[in-house]
Amino acid sequence: MSDQPTIAQKQPYVMELEAGTYYWCSCGQSSKQPFCDGSHKGTSFTPIKTEIEETKKVALCGCKHSQKAPFCDGAHAKL
Ligand code: FES
Ligand code: FES
Repeated sequence: MSDQPTIAQKQPYVMELEAGTYYWCSCGQSSKQPFCDGSHKGTSFTPIKTEIEETKKVALCGCKHSQKAPFCDGAHAKL
């Protein structure tokens, strides 16, 4: 079991999301990035739930090292 997330990509997933509830993958192993697909089972990671109030463009962290997860905080630049 590893406590280090897998880097899915060293840049954010910039996308437009509609209002709703989303589960961001924190482990980096989902094949449905940036969202959880259940692949974290057996690891110490769990997805981070985020509520989007209205349709908007977001930058979701792909490197899994952001301190402001699920959003990108620029941490990917130092990996
Ligand atoms: Fe990564 Fe669920 S698959 S947190
Ligand atoms: Fe992870 Fe930017 S993609 S901090």
